[in-house]
Amino acid sequence: MRIDILTVLPELLESPFQHSIMQRAVQKGLLEIHFHNPRDYTTDKHNTVDDYQFGGGAGMVMKIEPIAACIEKLKAEREYDEIIYLTPDGERLNQPTANQLSLKENLMMLCGHYKGIDERIREHYITKDISIGDYVLSGGELAAAVLVDAIGRLLPGVLNDETSALFDSFQDNLLAPPVYTRPSEYNGWKVPEVLLSGHQAKIDEWRYEQALKRTEERRPDLLEE
Ligand code: ADE
Repeated sequence: MRIDILTVLPELLESPFQHSIMQRAVQKGLLEIHFHNPRDYTTDKHNTVDDYQFGGGAGMVMKIEPIAACIEKLKAEREYDEIIYLTPDGERLNQPTANQLSLKENLMMLCGHYKGIDERIREHYITKDISIGDYVLSGGELAAAVLVDAIGRLLPGVLNDETSALFDSFQDNLLAPPVYTRPSEYNGWKVPEVLLSGHQAKIDEWRYEQALKRTEERRPDLLEE
């Protein structure tokens, strides 16, 4: 999969993909991430990427020309399955959306800043608006990092244990069950006996029950979906 990220702050996005699972995805060639700075597509001497909004009001708006020029250049090079804008007014990100996007080949992501982007970019180029939650971040970069991580770890071959993404929270609309590791007793606090039993069917059953219990207690809304 190839992901092109348009951002005026590429530095903010370098580190998230240089560690752990995302780094492995990139090193294995399963995920390619390219950054593009709209500032490099400006034509004025001050490299202006934002401007006052028509009609007045606080907050700058990202200008249309540099973003449009950058998108046009990329679109001329390849077909994009989705051009995603990270925005608090987008569709809220969930596991089904991450699953669907992980099946695509080329994604473009646009990170907003300031008050937002000129609406005409959204009308004419954006195919999907995504929010990572009901709160406002100072830019779309951290949201893009979250989205790329959620997608990247689902790509075949990225996770070591091929099956492990299947047991994530949310994959069955269930939260994940509790997990334990050695020692089996610490400070008198014991690991549930069944997990030490070696009886796989019983362990699976226990995990399912725990997942159900946890979901009922913490996220009953998931069971209604
Ligand atoms: N940009 C600012 N806030 C955001 C959010 N909650 N989700 C996605 N992009 C954003």
